[in-house]
Amino acid sequence: MLEREREVTLRFLAEPTDINFGGKVHGGAVMKWIDQAGYACAVGWSGQYCVTVYVGGIRFYKPVLIGNVVEARAKLVHTGRTSMHIVVDVGASDPKDRLSTKTTHCVIVLVAVDEQGNPVEVTRWRPETEEDAALERYAVKLMELRKGTEESVSNLRDAMPL
Ligand SMILES: CC(C)(COP(=O)(O)OP(=O)(O)OC[C@H]1O[C@@H](n2cnc3c(N)ncnc32)[C@H](O)[C@@H]1OP(=O)(O)O)[C@@H](O)C(=O)NCCC(=O)NCCS
Repeated sequence: MLEREREVTLRFLAEPTDINFGGKVHGGAVMKWIDQAGYACAVGWSGQYCVTVYVGGIRFYKPVLIGNVVEARAKLVHTGRTSMHIVVDVGASDPKDRLSTKTTHCVIVLVAVDEQGNPVEVTRWRPETEEDAALERYAVKLMELRKGTEESVSNLRDAMPL
């Protein structure tokens, strides 16, 4: 049996078609790369087709420029029964000097599904280093924070005349 892939890095050029009205890379393009890197990572780990169930805590630190070499690095940091929590960091560099700048960070959650789209169990991932244990605590903490926020938002929404 093949060893399970826990990390995936996509590397490519930011193309002129990715441009926004300010002449830099569109935020939506960066989100698509994050989703693609997370997808490849989740499928590599689970060996199943996967769908995105949540994208959270996305932070755009710096713009990506057209013509930059982009690296979207995805790393599994927590598994639930059917879900995989994946940290994705996007870095960009000018191909002339290749000095990479971290431009975007987020945690994305994907669920492994069967052919009917029903969630299926995934192999559990266990941290083996203190760094990995810290990353797992970070993902779990984010999930807990989210639960509280989602409940508050849902209460607010229910109170609106929508
Ligand atoms: C993902 C999907 C299959 C989950 O189905 P579901 O009936 O909600 O299934 P469950 O309630 O059993 O949840 C499945 C997992 O998702 C997790 N999940 C659900 N909502 C979540 C959220 N807001 N944040 C993080 N994880 C979440 C659950 O915790 C569970 O994980 P676990 O098994 O590791 O504990 C379903 O919601 C779906 O098909 N969504 C659309 C996916 C899609 O089209 N994505 C692409 C959009 S661009």
